[in-house]
Amino acid sequence: MDHFTYKNGVLHAEDVPLPALAEAVGTPFYCYSTATLQRHYRIFAEALAGLDVGIYYAVKANDNLAVIRTLANEGAGADVVSEGEIRKVHAAGVAPDKIVFSGVGKTRSEMAFALETGILQFNVESEPELEALSDVAQARNASVDIAIRINPDVDAGTHHKISTGRKENKFGIPWPEARSTFAKAATLPGINVRGVAIHIGSQLTQLGPFERAFEIAVDAVRQLRNDGHQIDRLDLGGGLGVPYGVADPPSPSDYGDMVKRVTAGLDCRLMFEPGRLIVANAGILVTRVIYVKPSADKTFVITDAAMNDLIRPTLYSAYHEVIPVLQARSTGTPRTVDIVGPVCETGDILAENRDISVPLADDLLVLRTAGAYAAVMASTYNARPLVAEVMVRGTAHAVVRERQTYEALLSTNTLPDWLSP
Ligand code: LLP
Repeated sequence: MDHFTYKNGVLHAEDVPLPALAEAVGTPFYCYSTATLQRHYRIFAEALAGLDVGIYYAVKANDNLAVIRTLANEGAGADVVSEGEIRKVHAAGVAPDKIVFSGVGKTRSEMAFALETGILQFNVESEPELEALSDVAQARNASVDIAIRINPDVDAGTHHKISTGRKENKFGIPWPEARSTFAKAATLPGINVRGVAIHIGSQLTQLGPFERAFEIAVDAVRQLRNDGHQIDRLDLGGGLGVPYGVADPPSPSDYGDMVKRVTAGLDCRLMFEPGRLIVANAGILVTRVIYVKPSADKTFVITDAAMNDLIRPTLYSAYHEVIPVLQARSTGTPRTVDIVGPVCETGDILAENRDISVPLADDLLVLRTAGAYAAVMASTYNARPLVAEVMVRGTAHAVVRERQTYEALLSTNTLPDWLSP
């Protein structure tokens, strides 16, 4: 459930009517609902109640400071994958001891930054990374808590571009081969081996793959303890899917019950890195129709949002539900339309072959489930400025990222001497 609902036929974000918001901030814009963010976080936390748990919101899904702060206020820590994300979570007020640093390609300079500013844990993904981290920690007379990410070779059953738990993927160290990496880590200065980490993919719509992977991770913890390691943390990653209007993923409470069953008696702190589950349905992309272009086969609805604002349909053939801001617009006879942006690529399709009643030019449309992996994956392709992000809370709204100006768009380009006048 989210807080984007029709009131008297007009779509609202909580208590804010979207036509007024579009008037105030212009289109396109992303709109986030505070109440929905809070609701999703609480549902996830409640599903795990009774366990010794830390929840580290995967900031890559939506790194807007207002989103991170809203979740930090609920008690969330942060799962980050770059120095930029560390800087963002600091700016949003996340304490260093609530930050987990994941990712396959941390540079030495990023490691040093994390050590200097403080971090709860590094999730290490390879032996070369482990050696680099030991060097960087040693050079600072520091010691750092780590988990090693294992690759369980489990098919997550999700889109191949967001599946991470097969042995042919770049992520983690295959288990049981990783036992020798744990043994090596135990000998390295500056490294405290604390945990096992796992993350098999994103937008999982079945519990089975999670369960298979978690059983392997639990066995790994037991085996590693037998090997003499003091493993007291198990990071089970993120990945629980959300309804995009097609498949119905498992509920957080079913996921929580499965986690409780699989980890029973393990006596380990459990860590989670949910991203999409928390933010996806807490955000929408609001766009205005520029033209309606009939053709022999189908009608193209050309909007002012494009693939550079929401790349998921182009990149993963992802489905995002499209609804009109004025409910009355959905009552006409349905026709098959493609909703497309102005970008000069055939792949610039936000929604393909939708049977909807054809909107009119200037109508406002909403792409739902755009709180995760939308604004963060936006680009300025076709020299289109990054669009505004707005957060609402009750009747209040605030622009939480300004629409990029054309001046800002041009400001980082410079001409070499030989081309200057
Ligand atoms: N932890 C790790 C180590 C991850 O790599 C990810 C996501 C997460 C947690 C959070 O996963 P979530 O709970 O959001 O599924 N751009 C793609 C999704 C990429 C996911 C990358 N890793 C999309 O738009 O579907």
